[in-house]
Amino acid sequence: MPTTCPYHIDPTGADIHAEAAALREQGPAARVVLPDGIPAWSVTDPGLIKRLTSSNRVSKDAHQHWPLFKEGKVPTDWSLGLWVAVRNALTAFGPEHTRLRRPLASAFSPRRVRAMVPQIETITATLLDELATAGPDTVVDLRDRFAFRLPLLVVNVVLGVPDDMHAQFRDAVGGLFNTSLSPQEAAASECLVRRHVDTLIERKRDEPAEDVTSTLIAAREAGELTDRELQDSFILLIGAGHETTVNLLDHACTNLLAHPAQLELAITGEVPWENVVEETLRHQAPIATILPRFAVEDIVDQETGIQFSKGDLILINYAAAGRAPRRIQRPDEFDIRRTDTQHLAFGHGAHLCLGAELARIESRIALSALFARFPAMRLAESPDQLKPIPSFISNGHQRLPVHLGDQARQPE
Ligand code: HEM
Repeated sequence: MPTTCPYHIDPTGADIHAEAAALREQGPAARVVLPDGIPAWSVTDPGLIKRLTSSNRVSKDAHQHWPLFKEGKVPTDWSLGLWVAVRNALTAFGPEHTRLRRPLASAFSPRRVRAMVPQIETITATLLDELATAGPDTVVDLRDRFAFRLPLLVVNVVLGVPDDMHAQFRDAVGGLFNTSLSPQEAAASECLVRRHVDTLIERKRDEPAEDVTSTLIAAREAGELTDRELQDSFILLIGAGHETTVNLLDHACTNLLAHPAQLELAITGEVPWENVVEETLRHQAPIATILPRFAVEDIVDQETGIQFSKGDLILINYAAAGRAPRRIQRPDEFDIRRTDTQHLAFGHGAHLCLGAELARIESRIALSALFARFPAMRLAESPDQLKPIPSFISNGHQRLPVHLGDQARQPE
């Protein structure tokens, strides 16, 4: 049982893994304090995470199960307010969750995702052609020029975002994940995203197509969703599309470039790209911590003896879970040769990530094509100089400067 003082979560996410290690020291779950003094638990142990995320005594709905929120004791301008107040699958419980997840799920069926492979390959090839114009010795920001653009373009296809709106969403969505913003900045960033979503919904009402936004609008028109749920479901998907796979690609590239012998194993096919992707997800969970969850009633975890009181706010620390020393040997080391690459980076239980298959396929295509084209790429800064993005939720770098090196000879 943790006996130490609550740990103040660093809203700037300056060193997510040092923080995770400090929290782990306090036991499978540690008492923490979020910005504005909001108390919570951060759960770091994979076993406890699985038990909590699959329990029907743990909810994600603040409107029903967070007394502080219901009683108006959470500041209305709390910088993390959007994460608890939104009305979509990520923050729903029980039958409400089933209702809100259903219209999203069809877009991510294995069949629909497999059908996207040719489009993902084409987008990847176009981005690599654009990248190649930089020349072998120029420093390019691989995160901005490749890791970010690919998932963005793909999610825009899934959601049916027209080309002329890509830039608006690209510029606005990052603010939702920046946990170091002031309340005023966070409110302005949410407001901006909502304005763009409204414009998009208006346009798609007039021009429906085979995409998730049109499916959501149809669900709204059939009375299955409220206006707010329609808007917030879109925000969930565009947010997931902008801030997750980018981190996976960013960390995979950083680690491969920092470990050239492992990169060689991947390029030669001795280790499949699938292992690279899974090991990256374990070692650097792209969503480091997720909120919110709430204890629906007093819960005593039988295995650890930890007691959660009714209404406690619970954060799941996926970054810590991927490096649990009792589960995995040399947890801090990146090693694509591992045979056990189990991780919880896509979550567990009813809220398991809907985009997991898409993210996996997309990253395998992206990494294999990138390093086939630029096998001599190298980092332009040492990995420990790379600055993290200011978030304890989203785990990536602000920039990933590389030299592309000479291109591989293209087939005639
Ligand atoms: C590397 C890429 C990704 C990672 C690491 C990731 C991670 C996660 C995690 C950890 C959760 C569970 C949150 C919880 O515990 O409550 C989740 C849920 C979700 N993800 Fe992803 N995600 C990724 C990509 C995507 C993509 C590309 C999409 C779609 C565009 C997506 C859509 C969703 C949705 C809709 C949910 C909510 C499911 C629910 O609450 O029922 N994700 N994701």
